[in-house]
Amino acid sequence: MKVTVVGQGYVGLVTAAGAAEWGHEVSGVERLDERLTALLAGRVPFHEPALGELVESHLANGRLNFTSDGPTAASAASLTFVAVGTVNAEQHWETKTIRACLAEVVPHIPDDGAVVVRSTCPPDFIAQLPAYVEELRAAAGRASIAVMLNPEFTKEGTAVQDFLEPDRVVIGVASDPDGRGVALLREFYAQVESPVLVLSAMDAILAKLGANLFLATKISFANELAALCDLYGSQIERVIEGMAHDPRIGGSFLRAGIGFGGSCLPHQVTMTVREAAALGHDTPLLAAVDGINLRQKLTFVDRIDDLVGGVAGRRIALLGLTFKPHTDDLRAAPALEIASMLLDRGATVVAFDPMESARRNARAQIRRLTVVSSAIEALTDADAVALTTEWPEFVTLPWAQIAGVVRGRIVVDGRNALDPEAMVDAGFVYSSFGRGHRVPVDTEAAVATSRAMAQERVGIPIGAELAVGD
Ligand code: UGA
Repeated sequence: MKVTVVGQGYVGLVTAAGAAEWGHEVSGVERLDERLTALLAGRVPFHEPALGELVESHLANGRLNFTSDGPTAASAASLTFVAVGTVNAEQHWETKTIRACLAEVVPHIPDDGAVVVRSTCPPDFIAQLPAYVEELRAAAGRASIAVMLNPEFTKEGTAVQDFLEPDRVVIGVASDPDGRGVALLREFYAQVESPVLVLSAMDAILAKLGANLFLATKISFANELAALCDLYGSQIERVIEGMAHDPRIGGSFLRAGIGFGGSCLPHQVTMTVREAAALGHDTPLLAAVDGINLRQKLTFVDRIDDLVGGVAGRRIALLGLTFKPHTDDLRAAPALEIASMLLDRGATVVAFDPMESARRNARAQIRRLTVVSSAIEALTDADAVALTTEWPEFVTLPWAQIAGVVRGRIVVDGRNALDPEAMVDAGFVYSSFGRGHRVPVDTEAAVATSRAMAQERVGIPIGAELAVGD
């Protein structure tokens, strides 16, 4: 079938390339000249594994093309997806762009076609959507069309696979009196074997938001539990293992650390709390999820501060800038907030990330940050190491050799990515979340520092969780 996808960002481009992979004829509409030129040359303007190969092969076989001409592309397509940004720089919902895109393409969609909103939108916008589309059609003297939602559940880093093999497809019906919109979307997803759920538009958008809010809640819960593990001298991974066999609980998305970042989870939590409050409705659980997420970053910075005896004038190696591995996305990246906090406390922060584009953008965003082009450069002479993104290349660094390169043998692991025993064996004082503070047996000063720090933080005599050299 002929498909148009308006907006070639993370969501739109994955949708366009994935649809071409299923054999649909796809036009991707992009208004930014630079991005359009890159796409026409087969270059993906951000890092997403496997996406480049799909774009290149379907550009070559003609199933995928890119254009800036939305009206022409929409006039030829049965389905016109709209996948543009709905959040502004201040992290507020912003529907100006999606309204403008709809105004541009909706009048040109064939009478037997459908418009499909793929962007995550605020519920009040969804409530107004059918009337808005109808208004645009009437003003152009055109008949009504089906107005649908099709929220995406893809994760950056595995977005192509998530699109091609989704665990479910959610179709939201905003206006579809004769069922044509549902039929077209079923045809679009014909190759998918997982359940296709047809919901009302409001149920569909709340299923999308609800999924992300629940995932954020799981992470903040894991972080709360990790703090209890530190309090009582317990090991978070073992605790989670002891819980996860219960099928009602499960073990995924419960990794403790510096918290969730990215373009979706953080702002969807804060915006939901704010929007509900504006309607006079309290959301205390989500407010706590947000608060815990902020606290994790502060705790991380405090730990580094404590372990080096004050970060002012110290050199801190920051490993990882992106909000998670296998992406170059810096949106709401915990590493950037942590870097700013360390800089504000007077530290020199020397950062490295394997993604060149992430390094470039981080440098542009935080002028005071020193960004270098190798991990070893960042680590040389560092007073402490802050691990902020669990890129595999950081996990497999030769830590025993790195102990001879750093000035202070202190590693604070914000992603619980390194093996505590191995780090202690390599000679490091090692701190992570919910796994106690580990110190090498032969570093008496480090033992004293870490013990004093833990006692002060916990307020009770400790010892058990100071796994000295074991
Ligand atoms: C998230 C959702 O996971 C997707 O299902 C959703 O489709 C997407 O948002 C969206 O709405 O578009 P994404 O933002 O790519 O996907 O990132 P996640 O994999 O969810 O990770 C978010 C953050 O949580 C990262 O900073 C990650 O490091 C952190 N995280 C994740 C943890 O701290 N602990 C965990 O156990 C898992």
